[in-house]
Amino acid sequence: MRLLRNNKSSVSRLALVALVSVSSCFLEVTPAIAKAPAKAQPAVLTASAIAVADKYSADAAEQIFKEGGNAVDAAVAIAFTLAVTYPEAGNIGGGGFMTLYVDGKPYFLDYRERAPLAATKNMYLDDKGEVIKGMSLFGYRAVGVPGTVDGMWEAQRRFGKLKWKQVLAPAIHYARDGFEVSQQLQDRRDEAAKDFAGKTNFDAYFGNLKQGVNFKQPDLAAVLTRISDQGAKDFYSGKTADLIAASMHGHGLITKADLVQYKAVWRQPVQADWNGYRVITAPPPSSGGIGLVQLLKMKADLAPDFKDVPLNSPQYVHLIAEIEKRVFADRAQYLGDPDFYKVPIAQLTDDAYIAKRAAEVNPTTPSDTKSVQPGLGTSMPEKAETTHFSVIDKWGNAVSNTYTINGYFGSGVVADRTGIVLNDEMDDFSAKPGVANMFGVVGSDANSIEPKKRPLSSMTPTILTKDGKVALVIGTPGGSRIFTSIFQVINNIYDYDMPLPDAVAAMRFHHQLLPPNTIFWEPYKPIDGELAKQIEAKGYTLKGQDFSGDIQAIKVNGDTPEAAADPRGRGVTRVIQ
Ligand code: GLY
Repeated sequence: MRLLRNNKSSVSRLALVALVSVSSCFLEVTPAIAKAPAKAQPAVLTASAIAVADKYSADAAEQIFKEGGNAVDAAVAIAFTLAVTYPEAGNIGGGGFMTLYVDGKPYFLDYRERAPLAATKNMYLDDKGEVIKGMSLFGYRAVGVPGTVDGMWEAQRRFGKLKWKQVLAPAIHYARDGFEVSQQLQDRRDEAAKDFAGKTNFDAYFGNLKQGVNFKQPDLAAVLTRISDQGAKDFYSGKTADLIAASMHGHGLITKADLVQYKAVWRQPVQADWNGYRVITAPPPSSGGIGLVQLLKMKADLAPDFKDVPLNSPQYVHLIAEIEKRVFADRAQYLGDPDFYKVPIAQLTDDAYIAKRAAEVNPTTPSDTKSVQPGLGTSMPEKAETTHFSVIDKWGNAVSNTYTINGYFGSGVVADRTGIVLNDEMDDFSAKPGVANMFGVVGSDANSIEPKKRPLSSMTPTILTKDGKVALVIGTPGGSRIFTSIFQVINNIYDYDMPLPDAVAAMRFHHQLLPPNTIFWEPYKPIDGELAKQIEAKGYTLKGQDFSGDIQAIKVNGDTPEAAADPRGRGVTRVIQ
């Protein structure tokens, strides 16, 4: 049922049935201790495929598929490899989310960082109750307890086919023998170094990260080798845990007790039916899945208003901004870690609620920002970096994974004698409710700091299925721009019938309630000239941002996967027979 072709047809609101779990129903699943013996499965696709952030992780995935691995094995190998070759965002010192579709069933793994046990609500405020600038962004006190290693361990033990050591092997190779540094990586290093100067040991570790250099990381190779030999326990209670805790001692909050107590969590993904597809996406502590579902459904509700409106025209930009305004109002008020705060997921994605919000959209002029209150009863900045990869195997299993150390190179702290770049994810909490974080997004008490709590995220690893088969695997970095970017690409593909590479490359823009009536444009395809004038004439302020996102997507056409890496990044695709 393809109802939004060329944006001309309308969608029955009744057809958009939310199939979303309530927050309190998150599912904890005990992972299988031993792997089931490998069953010979018939291939359902002509090939496996990947869209990843760099060529080294693409090579790693290709190797894993050649060794008989499945999408989960490849995903775990990609994640560890990017921790070595894409150190600005790939990581084992951060956390993330993995949406999976395995043997016809959806899963979601939350390996987001948690606040340390010693964290307090006001830890980033001065005596006057004001936010201390930069404290949640740079240096030791910005670091949350990392989840990536436990996440990869959980996913691979539960669903992988290969031996754990096999999926670690490519990352160990690149750490031990080195990889050639790209110009983009050097540029990102140079930029980040300005923020970290004098605050961290960043320069001591990454001083030699120069274009063309073969960058070797023997300490990281040793860590990865121990993880390969001992599993996640090395990171959380073994020698690596001791080294991280020793690095933090006297500087930051994380202790060995924090690491010992860390656990990734299997949760129910947010799911919704939209336009004949099942959308499987990230639940809280991500705001992204709810935001994506709200965007898709609100736009479908407004199909009559979008009729004959050309893609990315001034009127299109206005209508999308109106929708985004309402989505971000809800995000700021209602979203946080579901283990600490009852997030009203079902209500926020309910068809009738979204239809009511859609009806508030002003079709001609921007609604007054102050009048757009959270619909069930405020907005937040975030770092735009992060990285995403998409994987599908020939058996039809898919992994959509977004993980992060928040800003490029995280906190700028490299744990001594480990090569582990530690995150600055604490900035994703609201340090002071009502005050914007680095993505300009404001938070409420739902996202205030508490020990062991996970900060609100925008990461939105997403899979669309049709008739029980994977149709699209998609995600991107971008902070609060993540789900608005994914929304635009999905919209380009399904509502505007664009070929996948064009849909990924097309211009993107962003609005998030605050600053008022501001449309952010991206450097890759700036809004300028006549288009800019017409958007400004509608009452909007245009603002350039320094980040364009980096979509990695795989679309299945019949039984053949097609992959697209965003031309904005140094991503690579492979279709592997
Ligand atoms: N740190 C970016 C995010 O979690 O969305």
